[in-house]
Amino acid sequence: MNFLQKAREYERQNQIDRKSLPLFHATARIGWCNDPNGWSYYNGEYHLFYQYHPYGVNWGPMHWGHVTTKDFLHWDHHKCALAPDTSVDNKGCFSGSALEWNGKMFLFYTGVSEQKSEDGSNLEVQQQCLAVLKGDEYVKYENNPVISCYQQPDGSSLKDFRDPYLFERDGVLYALIAGRKDGEHGRLLLYSAKTPEKWDFVQIIAQNDGSLGSMWECPSIFKLGDKDIILISPQFSRQSSDNRFHCGNDVVMILGKWHNIKEAFEIEKYIPVDSGLDFYAPQVVKTPDGRIVMIGWMQNWDHCYPKDNAKWYGQMSIPRELYIDDIGYVCQKPIKELNNTRKIRRSYKNIAFEDNVVSLEDVNGRILDIEINANIKESQRFGIRIAKNDIYFTEIRFDIEDKLLRIDRRHAGAIRDALELREVPLVDVGEKLDLRLILDRYSVEVFIKNGCQVASATIYDTPIEADNIEFFSKGKVIFDIETYDLEI
Ligand code: FRU
Repeated sequence: MNFLQKAREYERQNQIDRKSLPLFHATARIGWCNDPNGWSYYNGEYHLFYQYHPYGVNWGPMHWGHVTTKDFLHWDHHKCALAPDTSVDNKGCFSGSALEWNGKMFLFYTGVSEQKSEDGSNLEVQQQCLAVLKGDEYVKYENNPVISCYQQPDGSSLKDFRDPYLFERDGVLYALIAGRKDGEHGRLLLYSAKTPEKWDFVQIIAQNDGSLGSMWECPSIFKLGDKDIILISPQFSRQSSDNRFHCGNDVVMILGKWHNIKEAFEIEKYIPVDSGLDFYAPQVVKTPDGRIVMIGWMQNWDHCYPKDNAKWYGQMSIPRELYIDDIGYVCQKPIKELNNTRKIRRSYKNIAFEDNVVSLEDVNGRILDIEINANIKESQRFGIRIAKNDIYFTEIRFDIEDKLLRIDRRHAGAIRDALELREVPLVDVGEKLDLRLILDRYSVEVFIKNGCQVASATIYDTPIEADNIEFFSKGKVIFDIETYDLEI
């Protein structure tokens, strides 16, 4: 049995009951998943591949898992798409993208392999490889890699050259790839091809001066309104003076202008993408009705502690529509299809409380869509505790006076609590705090002020029965709340 058959046989025999998975967030059906890969629309449905290790709940030799959806909420699981089974990818099929081009569906991924260097020692290299859909199989090119690690400017690292993002302009194929000059910070390399087999280096379109981590992993480039955007996931980011960016693995949008393929990207500003604890390596897809929909791995590399008896680990965020608001913020809102699944509604108006803790009858649950409009004119703090019982809770706290947002998971059951708190500047909300919270068994995603600021956090360590919700305040808060059970 070859590697691919072995993975498929394993997933057939071991796939777990959907009831133990999140209800509407994409996951693997068994084993570990990280980055979304090949997020694309093809043949009437959205395809999502992902970094996948079926045999365990920790990262291991990377395969590509595969799910599809028509509504961003129901995910059909398909057989493992790629396994690390050729001489150019036997150490892993790393992240990449998908594109329909000339009627064919291509996957472009990074093959990791060990090669002999000139001095005879072993050297791990990363190179770009293609697979094309034939029938229901993604068939790898025989002449992989189609972009070798040696096809980079002199002095480039051979082992940090990955995550190709494939796109098309005027009939020509382009790939944006994360690279690095040996010993230096990351940069984004652009390649072009008239046919998928033959690629030429075009230019370096953006360079990291070191202010945003080292490698810029999982890059992509797209248009949103009149803005050009590069989306990157910097590794090893350092603390920024204003605390808006994550230390460690972060996600950043680079806003600017890309006048033409031959020019470098003109950077206007860097903006943080998620203010929570868990979000990484996102990709976007354009829907037939023109929406740009982003999905990310709802996890942080520094916080991967699956339980001993876990059968799966790693989940994607809810797909989020990106848009630019009236004052130029890039905002995110949960995919609109979620609204159609709202069922039982509970609503309270004008809940006023001061220096107090309140809970509301029937406002509880671990699968919920919640909208809150709070008047915080006379308040210094407003907070929400979810996934709560007598012992555990996850806290989302708005320190209005200090203009801070805190996501606090220190009391959510983790065996180590050192990485469970994040505090970032709160977007300017004035006297009204508008919130939407999406809960799906093992996570919460908070959309503040129509998604001007978003914070995501997994909740793996709290028993699923802990489902109370409570609110607390310093000063006076008056709020309206609507909650919806979701039927998916
Ligand atoms: C990002 C990443 C990618 C790489 C993949 C390996 O999370 O490190 O750069 O391709 O994960 O699984």
